[in-house]
Amino acid sequence: MVEAAAEQLVCVAGAGGFIGSWLRTPKNSHLLALDGAQERLSLYHADVLDYMSLRRAFSLCDGVFHVASPISNDPNWYCYAKTVVEKTAMEEASKRGIQLIIVIPSVTIGRMLQPTLNLTLSRVATYMKGTKKAYSNAVGAYVDVRDVALDHILVYEDLSTHGWYLCIGDMLHQSEFLQMMRELFPQYPITTKCKDENKPMIKPYKFSTQRLGALGMKFTPLKESLYNTVVSLQENGHIPVLLHKSSL
Ligand SMILES: NC(=O)c1ccc[n+]([C@@H]2O[C@H](COP(=O)([O-])OP(=O)(O)OC[C@H]3O[C@@H](n4cnc5c(N)ncnc54)[C@H](OP(=O)(O)O)[C@@H]3O)[C@@H](O)[C@H]2O)c1
Repeated sequence: MVEAAAEQLVCVAGAGGFIGSWLRTPKNSHLLALDGAQERLSLYHADVLDYMSLRRAFSLCDGVFHVASPISNDPNWYCYAKTVVEKTAMEEASKRGIQLIIVIPSVTIGRMLQPTLNLTLSRVATYMKGTKKAYSNAVGAYVDVRDVALDHILVYEDLSTHGWYLCIGDMLHQSEFLQMMRELFPQYPITTKCKDENKPMIKPYKFSTQRLGALGMKFTPLKESLYNTVVSLQENGHIPVLLHKSSL
């Protein structure tokens, strides 16, 4: 493993978001309260579509963690945008001799540092509140937000890394995911109804996180991430706190 220099200046684009908040850069008051924020963190306003604002933010930085992105509910737009962005970024980085590494997290859950709900956690909240009346016959891949942040740091600090790194903790059917939620929090009205229960259950896909494993990555158990997600939703007032909360 090749070590990067110990002291580096980095920019986290999208620092105020769910994942970026765990990469330790300030945007809002919740980030300014982090350890060392006063001495080591500077805050810039930038728009990813505004070249000059990005230049200002990246100035003098050794590296950039780019986790800023508008996120859409439309899966077609989202997948298309991600594919085009990755392809273009790889081509441009290679032309300019910049080392670009892409971390691909699955659905990211876990404790929130930011007070606002992002799209992923708002979906968990709809199940907890019982507003989602049926789940899809589908599989989902999940990873803890702290693991996503750590993976970004691992690939950044190891100078031998290159290409794409799949960041997935667990993959399971929606029914199993919701069953885990019900076991942890039986007092919530989480649906047991599948949208198309007469069809064969979709099976999980095969995947490999061996590339991150080689860097020493060990993923957080899904049950722990899910527990932290729900407690975080309660603490931030996104779902009501119902009695008889279970513990891990
Ligand atoms: N959460 C997941 O389950 C998940 C899974 C896989 C991949 N990802 C990817 O991980 C990245 C971060 O996700 P997240 O969950 O942390 O999202 P998030 O909580 O919605 O945060 C997104 C961040 O991007 C910033 N942003 C949005 N549009 C911007 C623009 N035009 N210019 C500059 N900043 C902009 C937002 O800033 P403002 O708050 O100021 O708008 C926010 O800080 C995204 O690329 C997402 O596609 C997320």
